[in-house]
Amino acid sequence: MAHFLLPFALSLLSTLSLTSPVTAIYWKSVRPNPFKLRTEKLTHFQFYWHDVQSGSNPTSITIVRRPPVNTSTHTGFGLVNMIDDPLTERPDINSKLIGRAQGMYGLASQEEVGLLMAMNFVFMTGRYNGSTLTVLGRNPVTQKVREMPVIGGSGLFRFARGYVHASTHNVNTTTGDAIVKYGVYVLHY
Ligand SMILES: *[C@@H]1O[C@H](CO)[C@@H](O)[C@H](O)[C@H]1NC(C)=O
Ligand SMILES: *[C@@H]1O[C@H](CO)[C@@H](O)[C@H](O)[C@H]1NC(C)=O
Ligand SMILES: *[C@@H]1O[C@H](CO)[C@@H](O)[C@H](O)[C@H]1NC(C)=O
Repeated sequence: MAHFLLPFALSLLSTLSLTSPVTAIYWKSVRPNPFKLRTEKLTHFQFYWHDVQSGSNPTSITIVRRPPVNTSTHTGFGLVNMIDDPLTERPDINSKLIGRAQGMYGLASQEEVGLLMAMNFVFMTGRYNGSTLTVLGRNPVTQKVREMPVIGGSGLFRFARGYVHASTHNVNTTTGDAIVKYGVYVLHY
């Protein structure tokens, strides 16, 4: 064999052994595709997220208090809240319920009030009732518009990906209750 062909022959050999049935026992290509996946569509949602910390039925509760270290930081670094926040059609919390945001956020920045958010939007009305979208991202709440990734979903949102834009509509500085407008763009089948 010509000397320059040897690397090619070796790589061919390793390719062959990788694709041989003997090694491919823990995965397989799924054909034909059972999901009938064709073209992805882009869907936009807009709703209002209500973080209710006050009253007798708060939907956002602190599950990890801010640790008593470096009290000179004013960013709440270390605090964690669990949420089951209503998502409504309009800023009024009594307007039509679209779904809920279930998950948690933690104060993850020492320099500003910056949240790490991990939440599922659980849709509860209309076509998307029962389907979920998962948002995981960074939310520096003092910025006008914060962008976070939609990293997946379930039901009609299988294989979903996209992003949200969150902008604060209103914060009650006495109670900590916040209303945030969410605009969501999601690609899904
Ligand atoms: C406390 O945190 C602030 C902000 O990160 C930092 O500038 C400061 O040096 C810290 N103080 C101490 C005592 O570590
Ligand atoms: C959403 O789905 C649940 C469970 O299937 C059902 O009980 C409920 O009535 C549905 N809600 C709407 C508004 O369609
Ligand atoms: C904040 O909430 C308190 C208690 O519900 C209420 O009395 C007050 O008017 C609210 N402040 C604003 C600015 O909405």
